[in-house]
Order: sequence, then C-alpha cells, then structure tokens
Amino acid sequence: MLDSVLVHSPATLSNLGCGFDVLGLALTAPYDTIRMWRTAVPGVRIRHLDGYCLPTDPAHNVAGVALLALLREVPEAAGFDVEITKGIRPGSGVGSSAASAVGAVVGANALLGNRFTKMQLVEFALAGEMVASGARHADNIAPGMFGGFTVVRSLEPVTDITALAAPPLWVAVVHPQIEVKTSDARRVLPATVPLGLAVRQWANVAGLVAGFLTADYALISRSLDDYIVEPARLALIPGLAEARARARAAGALGGGISGSGPSIFMLNQTEATAQAVGAAMGSVFAELGIAFNTYVGPVGTEGARVVEEVL
Ligand code: HSE
Repeated sequence: MLDSVLVHSPATLSNLGCGFDVLGLALTAPYDTIRMWRTAVPGVRIRHLDGYCLPTDPAHNVAGVALLALLREVPEAAGFDVEITKGIRPGSGVGSSAASAVGAVVGANALLGNRFTKMQLVEFALAGEMVASGARHADNIAPGMFGGFTVVRSLEPVTDITALAAPPLWVAVVHPQIEVKTSDARRVLPATVPLGLAVRQWANVAGLVAGFLTADYALISRSLDDYIVEPARLALIPGLAEARARARAAGALGGGISGSGPSIFMLNQTEATAQAVGAAMGSVFAELGIAFNTYVGPVGTEGARVVEEVL
C-alpha cells in the first residue's frame, strides 16, 4: 500500500462556446500540485502552500468535501493529510475548483489501491464542485478526470461521460483580473430559450463534436459560437467582444468565455497563432487598464495523474 502520492491536476475549459455544462477540454497548464498521505487517523486535514487563503476546514474546502464524500464509501478507518499548491488561480474560469476536487480524489484512490472507477471518482468530485459553484456541473470535472475533449451527456445523475482524443490544437487563454463568481454568472442566465435559438445552439454542439472527431478545423471554427449563455454574460466581462474580434483577426479558429469567466479562451491550429492571439486579447485589457495573465499551451491528453508514489 502506498504511503503518499503527488498529483498534478490540470486546468480545463468548460462549455467550449456552445456546449454549456456539457463540453470540456483538458489543458496541459496551469495545474495544481497536491501531495497526500494516507493516515490511520480518520478524517481530512488540509494545508495550502499558496497565497490564495482558501478555507482549510474540509467541510468548506472543495478538495475536502470531495474527499469526505469518498471516505463515506470506504468501510475501514482511513484518513488523509493533504497539501495543496494551487497553480490555477481560484475564480479564473479555467476549472480551478474542479482541479482541486479531481486531483484530491485521484490521489486518494491511488492511496486506497485504486478501488474506485473514474466514474465513481467523478461523483465524489461533483460534491466538491457543488461547494464552489452551487451547481453539480461536470463539464470541468470530466476533462480534468479523463483528459482530452469530453462530452457529458447526462447531467443528473452523471452517468455518461465520453472522452475523445482532440485533434492537435493550441489554446490561448487570457485571464483579466476581475471577479466573476460562477454562482452569479449562473444567476443571469435565461430560464427559458426560444426554440429557434435552441436549434441553432444544438446544431453548433453537433458540429463541434463532429469537427473534433474528424479534425475538421473549418467546421470547428464555424461551430464554437454560443447563442444562449454568452449573450447573457456579456456584461460581466468588459472587453470580451473586442478581445474576440482581435483574436479572430489574429487567426484564432474561435472561442468565447472560458466556463463562467472571466477568462476568455481561443482555439488555434498552431502555437505561433495561439501566441499571437494571446497577445491580441491581452492588448484589449492593457488598454482598459485591467491587469491580466495569458496562458498558451496545447490541449491536454491526460487528466489528473499521480506523478510520484512513495511506498
Ligand atoms: N458550465 C459552467 C458554467 C462552468 O458556465 O456556469 C463553470 O465554470
């Protein structure tokens, strides 16, 4: 039996434009680093080795809640000591809470001899995601767990997750330093959708999945737009429309709000284009006087994974 493990848990894109709560994509960076020890002392003890002042009470910590949900299914007494270094800034819109929850349950599973399937781990991680965003959406958890491009077909309960290999793509993300809480960004959404709009949206979802499966970049480019959720959230992210326009002019295939924001993502065919697109989006926030970070990297083929084991 292992004594301790070190886990890397990557950032993820959710929604991917048109696929609200359903589509997701794993990134390679940034990622959270989680070191965990199995203990005979029941319960979960959490320390953060970063400067984000996240709660350490396991009942109020995303990783803690996910681990407590997992431990309820473990008959023998077991507990975990957990040290988390957040490489993904909380509230940035690239799946920070999902990375904590997924990384923690992946580490716990390794320490317990891999007794749970990934689908069971998704269920535990969802309990953690609920704490962060007030909703059991699995669109960040799925790519965080399985890697690649993921489709969550069933929402409650989450029983169908399909992970597909994505074609070679480079992702540019700009994170303007403004606060957009997922719970607030969900509150502005329409309760009902006109049928015509819904048809356009699910046509795009189908087109996007087909584009990923066939590596048809032109189809991916035509299919990313979100006609329902992004228009409702536009006012939450100053500079979004201009960032999109400059990104497209710089060669991006397309993109939109990353999750519930405030980050904006763009998909690109080459690293050089992604770098230019990241710079083009950043220039908008520089002009607005809003501090920002940019990330450029390839799509991640792996989700959270154990990178070091100690017996
Ligand atoms: N699908 C979720 C939303 C992702 O857009 O609210 C939150 O990160």
